[in-house]
Amino acid sequence: MKENNFKKLNYDPKQYPRELKKYYISASENEITAMMDKIKIKKFDDLYSHIDKNVHFDSAPHVTHALDYSELIDHMEALAKKNTIRPSFIGDGLKNYKVTEIVPFVSNLRGLTTAYTPYQPERSQGTLHTLWVYSSTLSMLTGFEAINASFYDRSTTMFEAINTAVRLVKGTNVALVASTMYPQDLEVLKTLAMETNLEIVTVNTDKKNGILEVQHAEELLAKYQGRVACLVFPQVNNFGNLEDVHTLTDLCAKNKIQSIAVIDPMLNATEGLIPPSEFGSDKAGANMLVGEGQHLAIGPNFGGPGLGIFGIRFNDKNKNDIRQTAGRFVGRAKDINGQEALCMVLSTREQHIRREKATSNICSNQSFVATLAGASILSRGEEGMKESHLIARDYAVQMAHELTQFKGVKLAFPFTPFYNEFTLEIPANTKALIEKARVSGLHLGVDVTTRINDGRNLLLVSFFDVHTDEHLESLVNFFNENFEAQENDEDLPEIPETMMRSSAVNLPNFSFQELKDFYTALANQNVSPDDNIYPLGSCTMKYNPYINDWAASLPEFTDIHPQAPLEDAQGCLEVLWNIQEMFKSITGLPGVTTEPVAGAQGELVGLKLFQAYHRDRGEEASRKILLIPRSAHGTNPATATYAGYETKTIEGVEFGIVTIEANEKGQINFKQLTDEVTKHGKRIAGVMVTNPNTSGVFEEDFKKMSDLIHSVGGLVYMDGANMNAIAGWIDLNKLGVDAVHNNLHKTWTIPHGGGGPGDGMVAVSNKLTAYLPGYQIEKSATGFKAITAPKSIGFFHRHFGNFAHKVRAYTYIKALGSEGTRTMSAVSVLSAKYLFEELKNVYPSLPENCETVPRMHEFILTISKETFDRIEKAGTSKATAIAKIGKLFLDFGLHAPTVAFPEQYGLMVEPTESFTKKELDDFVEIVKAIHTIINEHPEVLTTAPHFTPVKKVDEVDANKNLKFFDVLATLPKVHTNIVNPKELSSMPVKDVMKKIIAAHG
Ligand SMILES: Cc1ncc(COP(=O)(O)O)c(C=O)c1O
Repeated sequence: MKENNFKKLNYDPKQYPRELKKYYISASENEITAMMDKIKIKKFDDLYSHIDKNVHFDSAPHVTHALDYSELIDHMEALAKKNTIRPSFIGDGLKNYKVTEIVPFVSNLRGLTTAYTPYQPERSQGTLHTLWVYSSTLSMLTGFEAINASFYDRSTTMFEAINTAVRLVKGTNVALVASTMYPQDLEVLKTLAMETNLEIVTVNTDKKNGILEVQHAEELLAKYQGRVACLVFPQVNNFGNLEDVHTLTDLCAKNKIQSIAVIDPMLNATEGLIPPSEFGSDKAGANMLVGEGQHLAIGPNFGGPGLGIFGIRFNDKNKNDIRQTAGRFVGRAKDINGQEALCMVLSTREQHIRREKATSNICSNQSFVATLAGASILSRGEEGMKESHLIARDYAVQMAHELTQFKGVKLAFPFTPFYNEFTLEIPANTKALIEKARVSGLHLGVDVTTRINDGRNLLLVSFFDVHTDEHLESLVNFFNENFEAQENDEDLPEIPETMMRSSAVNLPNFSFQELKDFYTALANQNVSPDDNIYPLGSCTMKYNPYINDWAASLPEFTDIHPQAPLEDAQGCLEVLWNIQEMFKSITGLPGVTTEPVAGAQGELVGLKLFQAYHRDRGEEASRKILLIPRSAHGTNPATATYAGYETKTIEGVEFGIVTIEANEKGQINFKQLTDEVTKHGKRIAGVMVTNPNTSGVFEEDFKKMSDLIHSVGGLVYMDGANMNAIAGWIDLNKLGVDAVHNNLHKTWTIPHGGGGPGDGMVAVSNKLTAYLPGYQIEKSATGFKAITAPKSIGFFHRHFGNFAHKVRAYTYIKALGSEGTRTMSAVSVLSAKYLFEELKNVYPSLPENCETVPRMHEFILTISKETFDRIEKAGTSKATAIAKIGKLFLDFGLHAPTVAFPEQYGLMVEPTESFTKKELDDFVEIVKAIHTIINEHPEVLTTAPHFTPVKKVDEVDANKNLKFFDVLATLPKVHTNIVNPKELSSMPVKDVMKKIIAAHG
């Protein structure tokens, strides 16, 4: 290996013990052999011998040729260099502001990047504080009292806001949506609304002024009287024009519908545009806000990850609307000592969703982008935020003057005010001019001709603080070369005072050093799979290679806009094409979409594909039953509801979700399944099954189930969250899978970021390829191009999905190659089986009476009735005992296993392949010690955890007394660990036990 190459990296891989390990597997050959001996197997194949041979790959699938670490560095650099970055005036809903210096710093804090969603608030105050900074600064900028901890991006957030409006305005199912919104966002809304009760109706654009036609909105309100839930409108529209937000908000208030304002918080900073909390002639504000926050944090990254900003009012006049929203919020809390703390509140509608109450299917969100957005706002501070948008504004004003000094070039809407983007009418074909500009070194802007179609050629140009005087000079030069100069002294439209912010935001200002210390302290409050087993079952907390992040941070990847001419984005398309092909090999299925941004969105894509398939056969009205096992992750039934499979019975006929129970082996009850198929027959749309399931058991009857479902014309969705167990071994095509999502943030090593962003690429069978959403990347003799499938169901993402995550996963898979893929999953199963073997005689396991059923990558432990009794006698109820045992793991410097899911009394443990046998043995010692403690000193559970920065957090009280933001004047106080987790995990286990008992007092 050419170690000299390591100099190209922004870190030294030799410093990190797992980084240079083959396939990132830490266990040595000898340790692997010893683990195999323990579970009495001879080779990896034996781990899969209980699975029907007919569903194995005939031979190891060819995924890709593996590269060593040094080759990988060169390869990723070469790929990135296939993109061409040029000065760009493309904005169009994906802005491009400077990335502040705090962003790369925070992006390297592994305590923050690698942690999961803050389910254990005592161990996650770091992540919770980063999100608190995000929601507080956004509240300060927008005036909204409650900002959630993020959705995927602007378009999907709009859909969540619309659904909230429908719940709030009883009896409605129509959303009026401005046609002046970005067309990509409208596409996503249309796709999501398909086959639901919701009707999306667009309000026309006033062609003369390039803003919404208020009169048309009024006509639609009259037409759909009593059925309209909301009006969604932008502050800055798809021509760069400023909408009359006051009139639109008043119109909503007058008609008692919800006003949903689509804003850019950057422009609401001091001296910018009026914040949405002051919209309306009475300044009462809009009801909800939606925005895109990607540019607050990071570069365009070829379109993803984004950051969906969502806000709702929470004040003396309105405290209840928030209960109808989806997503998680971070709220103020207290620990049992009365110390200030934070925890997630109102999160019951997402990952803990009660199946029948589901209002949204989101689980992984965009937490880490929110974290970076909060950090960037603090880093810019009051002056910096103001400066960024004022620079953008000044450039736009200067260019509007200069670019209209050419014959035939004029403002397309000369009477409508704009801010930092504007539309020009030009005397040339816009598309051709954009191409000409590319050749001469510029990404000129966006062709918006068809947004109005009035015979004029229209070009949208956008200005940001990334621009320089040289960029502007080259833009003017380009116009000079193409158009004849002609003086024009017309004034630009002025922005009325009523559209401007009237008071300062008063954001605090901190030095870079202060922020570095703050975020470092927060990172130290979390634990990371870098250091130790992070046994959170179902979440696959494996090692996240540094090289993935380095590759994703190459400027040619981060700085390219997804609407740049694709000739200049060939590196991105090559990554997408490759990963698309890799996942065909990994799954055995012939089609792949790289669009979905999380597992839950992948599920939705799958079900929308099912609907399209049935619709194509004229069966959309009849295929209304989805079969889902009870043990499914909450997102599965939630997705089904969200997709339009509402569970109800009308005149004795069932619709929606039919729940399948487990059999005595912890698998789907095939007898019940057969009965349901007999009963519902051709009314079955499909089935959704996690495999291996959440008990870590491979569904033996999967193939039989697929055949049965197919025999009545239904389709099979496999939740692929647990691919870490079977990748490279099991052929999903042979299993009969029609659609499967792959959580790139689990098996494919993307860091979890404290809750997201994730990625959920979906692979499909031949039946569904024609309907795939978004872009398919095709390789041709002249390069890579993006096409759409012939009967595509539409778009779930405005561009290409979470592109930066594709770079990470691609880098990982290139390090594994075909053999590494199989080895990775085999060692993850081996590690789990080894742990289970060591623990099963101390802890009973769940499902009950299934000890001998082969487990794969994870397993569920519980405690005996006697232990429950002892614990109850010592003051901890049976209902809370398992959650409290989880807290004891924190006392040993670890994260807790997944508690009380999918089994109420279960602790789900998933070790992954990332740890040595020695680390697994140490873990076993700790888990056994916990068993001793809860039997001999069950009273300690009443006070656990003991060494975290805050003590047991009172989440119930936090959910009752909701508080969502602080007006930040200083940095939030960071409590330090009572004992550092690294110190705890390196202490002899016996000493920690003594320390816990002593701490209980
Ligand atoms: C089994 C299972 N299915 C689906 C999901 C949802 O995936 P995501 O969080 O990527 O939306 C999860 C996430 O934990 C899961 O464990």
